[in-house]
Amino acid sequence: MKQDIKSRADVERMVNTFYDKVKQDDVIGFIFNDIAKVNWEKHLPVMYDFWENIIFLTNKYVGNPMSVHIHLNEQVPFTKEHFQRWLLLFTGTVDELFEGKKADIVKEKAASIAAIMETKIASPFKIMR
Ligand code: HEM
Repeated sequence: MKQDIKSRADVERMVNTFYDKVKQDDVIGFIFNDIAKVNWEKHLPVMYDFWENIIFLTNKYVGNPMSVHIHLNEQVPFTKEHFQRWLLLFTGTVDELFEGKKADIVKEKAASIAAIMETKIASPFKIMR
């Protein structure tokens, strides 16, 4: 039986598994590999902090995800399909590894942040920038 997300080590496993899928993905992989040319050694610990804060309220993440994505969106316009694929990979990763309250919370949070991000940067109206 699958367990819930219980520790930083679980968060790291979730993030690593998610980005393994992202890097190979035919819809959004290129944004990470070719456009942002992500330095994974630097990016992964930032993402551990980001998701650990969302799940366990650790307050370790310092940053502004919205401005990072607004900047990226200027180099490659993000589409609805990009967001849908991002969320599909994220939700699929959580479901593959975990089951429980924290797993449900992290999927809900990811979906709501993705929806806000999409409205702010990928919407034809580009509101509240
Ligand atoms: C179309 C969907 C998305 C794409 C293509 C995308 C792509 C990226 C890329 C390329 C980076 C930069 C990595 C680097 O250079 O270090 C990044 C950073 C980040 N992304 Fe996304 N992202 C997407 C959606 C999301 C969503 C929905 C969330 C949150 C739920 C999120 C959270 C973050 C965070 C926290 C960072 C790090 C920001 C920082 O450096 O402080 N992303 N993303």
